[in-house]
Amino acid sequence: VNAEVEVKPVGGRIGAEIAGVKLGAHLSEKTVHEIRQALLEFKVLFFRGQSHLDDAGQEALAHLFGAPVAHPTVPIKEGTDYVLELDSSHGGRADSWHTDVTFIDAYPQASILRSVVVPASGGDTVWANTAAAYNHLPEELRNLVDRLWAVHSNAYDYAAHREKIEEEALKRHKEVFASTVFETEHPVVRVHPETGERTLVLGHFAKKIVGFSSNDSAQLISLLQSHITKLENTVRWRWSAGDVVIWDNRATQHYAVNDYADQHRVVRRVTIDGDVPISIDG
Ligand code: SIN
Repeated sequence: VNAEVEVKPVGGRIGAEIAGVKLGAHLSEKTVHEIRQALLEFKVLFFRGQSHLDDAGQEALAHLFGAPVAHPTVPIKEGTDYVLELDSSHGGRADSWHTDVTFIDAYPQASILRSVVVPASGGDTVWANTAAAYNHLPEELRNLVDRLWAVHSNAYDYAAHREKIEEEALKRHKEVFASTVFETEHPVVRVHPETGERTLVLGHFAKKIVGFSSNDSAQLISLLQSHITKLENTVRWRWSAGDVVIWDNRATQHYAVNDYADQHRVVRRVTIDGDVPISIDG
């Protein structure tokens, strides 16, 4: 049977561009199925030239892949049900390696990000494959992390680690990101519910390894993060306005590169409901 979509791998371990698709609520079941299969295999999918999509169109697209969910703390964009807007002029710069919303139990399975305003230079986003990262760990390290759990919390915000941020932006950031503190525990290694792959669950919101001292936790998390974010496990996307990117939030981390100074950048995200991670012990 002929495929509806064309899949062009971008990185060696992660990322594919999907051509021949105009995204929207009208997509056939077959097309949605093919996109899903590609997402499971490549973890992040890039669609160019989707400027026809507006907020409602992005939400309708999300519905084809599952139930969209609003962010637990950041107010949704006015006039929408689920859209999270990241506007650089309001401090919306996700410049820290993370998996979306891991500070709640059943964190999103996927995110759909649409670029609205793209800086003339810079502002790329980088994704890392956390299944490949797990598979490439030395066996002894895999054995160590297989049964560990980590505490995830939103108790600090993206801006906290920046050297320099305007007071207003920091204040707004604190209001939206840390208005309600969530904390949960996840297995450091989760079994992907659809592929059965083992993936590493860490990133920005992982604060501590259960049963480890703060110092040991910080060192182990830092060691694992350095494996996850090795360039071999990553793919980097240079945005054009109207690009849409979908990622499997159970098998990736991402980082919005903050190299565009005071140029304007706006992206809008809709996340899709996920399930509670299952450890290798079930
Ligand atoms: C996000 O972290 O969801 C946004 C990434 C980006 O701004 O590129």
